[in-house]
Amino acid sequence: MATGLLRRAMTRVVEQPSPAARLVAARFHASEAEAQQVEPKAKDSSSMKTFQIYRWNPNNPSKPHLQDFQIDLKDCGPMVLDALIKIKNEIDPSLTFRRSCREGICGSCAMNIDGSNGLACLTKINAGEKSSVTPLPHMFVVKDLVVDMTNFYNQYKSIEPWLKRKSENEGGKEILQTKADRAKLDGMYECILCACCSTSCPSYWWNPESYLGPAALLHANRWIMDSRDEYTQERLDAVNDEYKLYRCHTILNCARACPKGLNPGQQIQNIKKLELTG
Ligand code: SF4
Ligand code: SF4
Ligand code: FES
Repeated sequence: MATGLLRRAMTRVVEQPSPAARLVAARFHASEAEAQQVEPKAKDSSSMKTFQIYRWNPNNPSKPHLQDFQIDLKDCGPMVLDALIKIKNEIDPSLTFRRSCREGICGSCAMNIDGSNGLACLTKINAGEKSSVTPLPHMFVVKDLVVDMTNFYNQYKSIEPWLKRKSENEGGKEILQTKADRAKLDGMYECILCACCSTSCPSYWWNPESYLGPAALLHANRWIMDSRDEYTQERLDAVNDEYKLYRCHTILNCARACPKGLNPGQQIQNIKKLELTG
């Protein structure tokens, strides 16, 4: 009984501290809370990076401009696409760009990063203080980093990128190919149609309507080289044109720009060779 009373008395003392103790405790908690509030703001300036991003909104009559965004790289993934997603999620939801797979497969995040065309999801954020991100060059801009791909896709469509046969395949069976014939498609079938090559090609910049550009010509060669296709000569005739094919001057910007390591310039050379010998 006496022990119980003592315990209750002690509890009351703990529950009701003296005014002085309350003041000390309040100050302690306040400084702890202040410290917690200050901590996230105290960023290490060495991990801060500025992204200078092209902005243009068709609904806003102002001119296109570059806008700076600062982010903390310690709190961001390693790729440029990670930085763009972070900026969109945390700073400006109106920032517009295309992306889907995040692993270099869909080709939708192609843009110009620090002066070179590439896929934002495969391009590491560089160590410098500033990076520039602009749309693919010489393309009409739809909004911010999104460009109009209509002409590019129409050119791809114009080379008829599907298997064409004159003879019926027996009983609807699959058309077989030797391993050696299949290997002839290496270096072409991997193309993801990102347009990094075509939009880095000076000939394409000056003649985007009439020159097919490296991506469409790479695909033209892909079908010309396919042993199962029976329209090889017609395909060669279709691109045998001063503008469609011969605007390529083998500068090879296209090979340097391709994020999949392909060499469209070499495939164009192959078509030119077949035009002479075929
Ligand atoms: S090699 Fe041909 S397609 Fe490639 S960048 Fe040069 S001109 Fe353009
Ligand atoms: S060849 Fe390379 S750069 Fe050109 S569209 Fe295909 S994947 Fe992209
Ligand atoms: S998001 Fe698909 S290639 Fe970059």
